[in-house]
Amino acid sequence: MPSVVVANDHGAVELAQRCVGYLEKMGYTVNYLGVTTTDSVDYPDMAQKACLEYKKGGYEFGVVLCGTGIGISISANKIDGIRCALPQNSYAAAMARKHNDANFIAFGGRIDYPEDPIDMLDAYMEASFEGDRHLRRVGKMMALEGSC
Ligand code: RB5
Repeated sequence: MPSVVVANDHGAVELAQRCVGYLEKMGYTVNYLGVTTTDSVDYPDMAQKACLEYKKGGYEFGVVLCGTGIGISISANKIDGIRCALPQNSYAAAMARKHNDANFIAFGGRIDYPEDPIDMLDAYMEASFEGDRHLRRVGKMMALEGSC
């Protein structure tokens, strides 16, 4: 059974729970780290929780959410080994995996997306890394960690 870790701040409770429900429906084991209420929390803390859990191993990918998806994706990308995409639509969501080998995907609970973010999540889940020249680029991207 593939596993996924999910975490969110107070700005994306409803969307996070929709993502969890969809992932479970698709057969994933979901480690949902919350939060489940609109009490204010800090998105870097939620990104850190999800990414450190992911780095323990055994997860196919992670999903992080905040009001815009911006703060939590920036935070996730500060953690070594994490490539968190914040897609605009299903095309970008699929490409995040095909070309960027993104191991996290972020969404904004307060964003009016051009399509249902669940469809974007689905496009990401359906896609796989294409390797080849993208392997070199992902390698270069990761080599930037701690280098400047
Ligand atoms: C919280 O109010 C909000 O700043 C957060 O959810 C997110 O949108 C930050 O990028």
